[in-house]
Amino acid sequence: MPDAAQPQPTSAAPTGGAKSMDNIMALCKRRGFIYQASEIYGGINGFWDYGPLGTLLKRNLREAWWQDVVMNPCWGRAGANNERVEMVSVDTRIIQNPKVWEASGHVSGFNDPMVDDRETKQRTRADHLQGVFLIRPEEVHGPGVAMYTGGYIPGRVPDFVVVGSTPHEAAASLQVDKKLWKLAGLSKVGPIPVDQATVWPATLPGASLFAEIIQGRGQVFVHIYGIDPAVLRERPAEVPSPFTGKRGVLTEPRQFNLMNFTYTGALFDEANKVYLRPETAQGIFVNFKNVVDTTRVKVPFGIAQTGTAFRNEVTPRNFTFRSREFEQMEIEFFCHPGEAEAWYRFWRDWRMEWWESVGLKGENLQLREHEKDELSHYSRGTSDIEYRFPFTAPGFGELEGIANRGDFDLTQHTKHSGVKLDYFDTDRGELLPNGSKKGERYIPHVIEPSAGLDRGVLAVICEAYTRDESRPSPEFLKIHPRLAPIKAAVFPLVNKDGMPEIADRLHAELVKRFGRIGAIETDSKQSIGKRYARMDEAGCPFCFTIDGQSKEDQTVTVRDRDTGKQERLALDRVSAFLSERLAL
Ligand code: GAP
Repeated sequence: MPDAAQPQPTSAAPTGGAKSMDNIMALCKRRGFIYQASEIYGGINGFWDYGPLGTLLKRNLREAWWQDVVMNPCWGRAGANNERVEMVSVDTRIIQNPKVWEASGHVSGFNDPMVDDRETKQRTRADHLQGVFLIRPEEVHGPGVAMYTGGYIPGRVPDFVVVGSTPHEAAASLQVDKKLWKLAGLSKVGPIPVDQATVWPATLPGASLFAEIIQGRGQVFVHIYGIDPAVLRERPAEVPSPFTGKRGVLTEPRQFNLMNFTYTGALFDEANKVYLRPETAQGIFVNFKNVVDTTRVKVPFGIAQTGTAFRNEVTPRNFTFRSREFEQMEIEFFCHPGEAEAWYRFWRDWRMEWWESVGLKGENLQLREHEKDELSHYSRGTSDIEYRFPFTAPGFGELEGIANRGDFDLTQHTKHSGVKLDYFDTDRGELLPNGSKKGERYIPHVIEPSAGLDRGVLAVICEAYTRDESRPSPEFLKIHPRLAPIKAAVFPLVNKDGMPEIADRLHAELVKRFGRIGAIETDSKQSIGKRYARMDEAGCPFCFTIDGQSKEDQTVTVRDRDTGKQERLALDRVSAFLSERLAL
């Protein structure tokens, strides 16, 4: 039996204007954005289904990426050239020859360290280990806190110590599950006001940690662990179980391969074992030669693909953020080695602009360049586009990674397949007497902007989620009109006096004109206020209402979701108005 879904994650209750993940998840369920997969059977951990509105939202985000990346690509700005980026697409299989994953390094290296609680048999990622534990004042100079002397201010006793393996993780630890507060006997202690936090780096022998110390009241000390696997190996007795708080019951970290597998063919044996792809990228690399040989693309060019990937995440969590099945939107951009750095910077900045263009703006979105020691051995530079999700706040969670992968992938597949994956560039090399170029043969370098579609949808929902207690229905979704699942709604104010007929005609016109990009709704049930509130929750940007005046002067009211303001508009202007506002 697969493991059943864990209870829905609860985030700390919001402080000030913060958004509550519980409220967001409840709205997603109530309005048909996201459901637990197999819910009537108790769910299945790490898998989520999209309901009617979620399906449209996800489709619109994928389509926006597809339009802007493949069909109508951006203009390149790497180096001196400013030409339209050349981009083609592929649609490759989830199951490939297993040698693909040996060459890519996924069979040997795609591992997470995990630990088990010997008593409860529960399992978690060693690098996600955290828990809340009481530390008494007399313990402050004992082994627990002595471990973090780098982050401890001499002479000042911390009330709370939050530790993570990075400053982000430390900050994220602040959003601790309420259950853990209870475990520590602190059920009355509310969430820590984030603005009282400061981050200091703290050092442990052989491991770098960051301690977040919050000064506060009295004599209560809470210690939230984020423990490096090395500590667990060397001092297992000191590390408390995240499930019970008991020390010395955790196993040593063991490597756990994240690839799911199955068998193809008649015999279920090792020879027929195949993997479910953990990323769509490798399907692109193994088709590099096919694409070059069968199309007219010339380096620099990109190959784009969207599709499902599977990872057997040890601890799927935070709603859809870390799932075991999810969709990616990936570009592999092939360029001359000498231009790789410029293209890396170009893609990094353009991808950031793109996420902003679909509504993720301001302080919740950031571009983070990886430190040298964070880079994989082949990477010459990696940046993450990160979003501040309610469950990571005040820290950020990765939405997309942009990596300069050098020639690693094409070289690996050349070695393992025996097929040369180089490129002969006829636009390079010295000028020949006949006026043509001598040409240059090289292995292209790869810039990889790799985005998560499900994480994108989650970020869009979190960003859009708004509470305004002054409105009759205080929750609504300010989804960017381009992504909104319902583009407009048409309502007759009452179900008589010729209003339904006018509404039906307008609805039919709008479906014909806009139905290909999203739903157009009509509804005559309940009070007009309730109908507006329903559309606000669904993120529908505009509602058109036919009222008593409509029959007399052929006008309607249009109501704006974000401001609630209404204006009158001629009936025959509605299509043009919508077209303008949806930026078509
Ligand atoms: N080909 C490169 C690659 O796959 P990655 O950083 O492992 O890189 C790219 O994944 C994106 O896929 C991430 O930025 C994230 O948005 C998404 N992603 C990765 N693991 C995920 C998971 N378990 N659940 C949901 N999305 C995930």
